[in-house]
Amino acid sequence: MRLVAGTEVLAVSSRNIERAAAFASRHGIPKFYGDYRELIEDPEIDVVYVATPHSGHFDVAKDALLAGKAVLCEKPLTVTLEAAEELVGIARKQGAFLMEAMWTRFNPLVRRLRQLVRDGAIGEIHSIHADFGVRFAYDPEHRLWNPALGGGSLLDLGVYPISFAQMLVGEPESLVAHGQLRNGVDAEAGLLLRYPSGVFAHLYSSLIALKAVGATVVGTAGQIELPPYFYRPTELVLLRPGREPVRETLDLAGNGYEYQIAEVNERVLAGEQESPEMPLDDTLAVMRTLSEALRQLGVTYPNTVR
Ligand SMILES: NC(=O)c1ccc[n+]([C@@H]2O[C@H](COP(=O)([O-])OP(=O)(O)OC[C@H]3O[C@@H](n4cnc5c(N)ncnc54)[C@H](OP(=O)(O)O)[C@@H]3O)[C@@H](O)[C@H]2O)c1
Repeated sequence: MRLVAGTEVLAVSSRNIERAAAFASRHGIPKFYGDYRELIEDPEIDVVYVATPHSGHFDVAKDALLAGKAVLCEKPLTVTLEAAEELVGIARKQGAFLMEAMWTRFNPLVRRLRQLVRDGAIGEIHSIHADFGVRFAYDPEHRLWNPALGGGSLLDLGVYPISFAQMLVGEPESLVAHGQLRNGVDAEAGLLLRYPSGVFAHLYSSLIALKAVGATVVGTAGQIELPPYFYRPTELVLLRPGREPVRETLDLAGNGYEYQIAEVNERVLAGEQESPEMPLDDTLAVMRTLSEALRQLGVTYPNTVR
């Protein structure tokens, strides 16, 4: 946030006031709260960034929207599709800004990829391939493995490949999901999706296997590759038969979150309620895909988890 002009980090909240104080002191943040309900009542704050485990997104984002704040909410927007629909409904009714923090979409090389596709650089898209596999130690209490905290590979990592494909070709008309569960959540998921235009996508997420986190968009006249890590690419390669590969690179000033923060600033200052690059309808389409894949894999979250 601090890399983006015009952004001030004013306050932080935790469930525990000492932890909030320690975080604020470590990062030079002027105010801290021991309950997010206090933070969202702070009149100095324009935008609330929700970065709790997935299972906390709905309550915090909802309360912040109802308190009149703009909200940037970590991915996935919520655990369940129903909660996402409700949250989007609240934002629209309030006329408040809400965006899922799918930061990948604002990376300059992802914007460039979209432009190349629009310009026909690879002809018509045929297929999309994207993987996100990271090996995490098994710990049934950790948010990644705990159903009560919205655990599983799809919601945490699979959301990136699914959102990437959605950005390019929209919502699938059908999908088949295979995978394996551990502690009731998906440790690994492989998805084959078909889109109305006949395009297909092969997407993968895993908490148990390392897999090169790259993406490829294949077209009739060539292909574009985002070598690892496609969720914050620093390289793009355009390959076309009979032509020299075109390679473009990006130097990130920070971790790559800055472009998304700049987008939120711009939209909020303009009085807009959504980002055209990460609109809420896209988030809902991604949630429908996640929800169907989880259903096929047999993952069910406790009723209390939204
Ligand atoms: N965009 C990205 O690159 C990126 C990367 C990592 C994670 N994320 C997203 O960010 C979110 C948080 O992930 P994380 O790995 O940072 O999680 P985390 O470390 O487990 O939790 C973040 C903070 O939330 C609070 N918290 C922990 N458990 C909670 C609970 N049960 N209910 C309410 N608050 C709780 C904790 O603060 P206190 O204990 O002090 O309250 C903790 O410091 C997830 O939705 C994830 O998808 C995004």
